[in-house]
Amino acid sequence: MSSIYRYSALASRMQPSPIRELFQMIRQPGMISFAGGLPDPSAFPVGPVADCAEVLARDGRRVLQYGASEGYPPLRDCLIEMMSDRLGYEVPPDQLLVTSGSQQGVNLAARVLLDPGDVVIVEAPTYPGTIHSLRNAGARFATIPCDADGMQVDLLPEIVENVETATGLRPKLIYTVPDFSNPSGACMSLERRRLLVAFAAELEIPVFEDDPYGKLRYTGEAFPNLKHIAGGAPQVIYASSFSKVLAPGVRVAWTVATPDLVRAMVLMRQGEDLCTSTVTQALVAEYCRRGHLESHMDKILDVYSGKCAAMQRALVQHLPSGAAHWTEPEGGFFFWLELAKGSSHELFDRAIAEKVAFVPGGAFYPDNDEQIGEVHTGDRFARLCFTFADEESIDEGCRRLGRVLGG
Ligand SMILES: Cc1ncc(COP(=O)(O)O)c(C=O)c1O
Repeated sequence: MSSIYRYSALASRMQPSPIRELFQMIRQPGMISFAGGLPDPSAFPVGPVADCAEVLARDGRRVLQYGASEGYPPLRDCLIEMMSDRLGYEVPPDQLLVTSGSQQGVNLAARVLLDPGDVVIVEAPTYPGTIHSLRNAGARFATIPCDADGMQVDLLPEIVENVETATGLRPKLIYTVPDFSNPSGACMSLERRRLLVAFAAELEIPVFEDDPYGKLRYTGEAFPNLKHIAGGAPQVIYASSFSKVLAPGVRVAWTVATPDLVRAMVLMRQGEDLCTSTVTQALVAEYCRRGHLESHMDKILDVYSGKCAAMQRALVQHLPSGAAHWTEPEGGFFFWLELAKGSSHELFDRAIAEKVAFVPGGAFYPDNDEQIGEVHTGDRFARLCFTFADEESIDEGCRRLGRVLGG
């Protein structure tokens, strides 16, 4: 397309988010979507959040003003309290940054830590929003395979060595979603968590622990966060978000990092959004202050565990035997199906014709030519989100998928 503008090299390199593009295709009447990683909107606590807007009447002159780049103080107080429970130590205020979604946390960290050509180790598969941010920062990727216990951490030293041989560079960062990975739903075992924290210290490569799903565990026992295992040590950067446990529309999340990294991220954001919306931070702070988050968590754990079980039942019942393999997730939002044969991309076109949507696995891997060393691709995999559709639609959607797989 011709344009009067002369775009930057970065803009010319940018690629559309594969998932956001899918949304256009699946907006058809009668479509059952397992595609977007969306919370159930019928579970949003609309009434209590609306009541919390009372904070505008009480403190409107502050709430409607620009806020500090580090975050709105009452929300920061709630987060520090929440984090001491989760991370096992009291996070000093200069180690906390409120961000506009954890997507911004990843993006700011990428932009202050990476120079074009730097290498980041990501899980294969991984969250495409992070691939996007890292790509924008000019990163190249080394991928580390995952199984039902998450990242195969024991391969890390060899991968680091291979990257060094191929590029002359030590990887700058390791990115992981240890709890209920998007897309694989896998949870990293305790042994691997300990090993990863130890390797990160030994190899002097920081780990970005992205944790939007950790509190959404439906069965089994929780493992400590990497940042907790590291005793708060600087080699683990921790990020989490209200998007999956409250509502993504508030765009409120946070990062815990060293004071110098927080400061660098603050300076970077001062060139973009200045601060996270003070209005939504105040709403979230009020929501937490009134003690609503705990009861809401109980509610969504109940709803989502029911949906997770419903998808497990429906897949077992409707998919032709042996057509796909998967591990039932213990939490989070996703099932990750490995097809016994064929490509999930090709399956996607047939599924859309049957009015059921999922995300083909390729979306969760960097492009082949961006990967250094062994190249991993997702052609045989499909991500199914179970939190958005109702249980009846989950059953019907899996029935349709079964027809497509059997046809
Ligand atoms: C692993 C992971 N990280 C980050 C995000 C972005 O979350 P937020 O809405 O907080 O920007 C998502 C959203 O799906 C995600 O799955």
